[in-house]
Amino acid sequence: MTTVDTEPRWHDLMSTWDAQQTGYLPRREERFTAIVRTLGAVLGGRFTVVDLGCGPGSLSRRILDTYPEATAVAVDADPLLLRLGRNALIGYGERLRWVDADLRDPSWTERLGVERVDAAVSTTALHWLDPGALFTLYQRVGRLVRPGGVLLNGDNMPYDPGQAIHERLANEANERAAHEAFTVAGVPDWDRWWTQAADALADEARERQERRARADERYGLRDGDRLTSLSTHVTALTEAGFREIATIWQDLDDRVLLAVR
Ligand SMILES: C[S@@+](CC[C@H](N)C(=O)[O-])C[C@H]1O[C@@H](n2cnc3c(N)ncnc32)[C@H](O)[C@@H]1O
Repeated sequence: MTTVDTEPRWHDLMSTWDAQQTGYLPRREERFTAIVRTLGAVLGGRFTVVDLGCGPGSLSRRILDTYPEATAVAVDADPLLLRLGRNALIGYGERLRWVDADLRDPSWTERLGVERVDAAVSTTALHWLDPGALFTLYQRVGRLVRPGGVLLNGDNMPYDPGQAIHERLANEANERAAHEAFTVAGVPDWDRWWTQAADALADEARERQERRARADERYGLRDGDRLTSLSTHVTALTEAGFREIATIWQDLDDRVLLAVR
């Protein structure tokens, strides 16, 4: 099955997106595999999954390619990445639905077209939320995922204060990976990728800027640079009704957290 459009603009932007993200996360593919395999191991091959902060759909694509009877609802607030995903990932028909929604909007779950899902997944996305927004999001996800379903979140989740050596090792590894990818190998980094994308999709890039300004006004600017720690994720998931919350894959502060509803 052809799942990626071969039209150069979509194909190139999709593959440079993956290269750029892999520059920051050299084990990104392994992390995707951990999430994909766990879905099958817990749920079997037929399930509905919501991909939170899907970007152009890198994770949804891997799930749908692995499980031909699965369906995915891919949610993001970025018009450029949604346009890219919609055009680059073809051939899934009704199995892949795109939803344009901000995960901080109280009504985002109403726009999914499904009341319940078997799983919620996310990669490199929820760290954009401040702890208050993350608590609220997990509450909503706790109502969306059916009992016995799962949440799998792959993201950088920093160590708690007092674990300075672990934190230093993680920071150094992250800096080394970025240097090797962007300086040594010449992969376009985040800023360069967005410049190229804005050249290719100027209207969406403009819409993106306008939306981000409106969202900052509505939800406020994120409080500080520090990402939300692992223990905050665990507390928020517990309060949202999840159990068996534990790391199933880890590379220093980059982890996949599995939680059972
Ligand atoms: C670094 S990208 C990762 C995309 C994709 N999950 C991947 O692994 O390639 C982060 C994504 O989170 C999305 N995102 C961040 N905050 C969001 C919010 N409040 N609502 C919806 N999407 C959000 C961004 O638009 C972006 O697509």
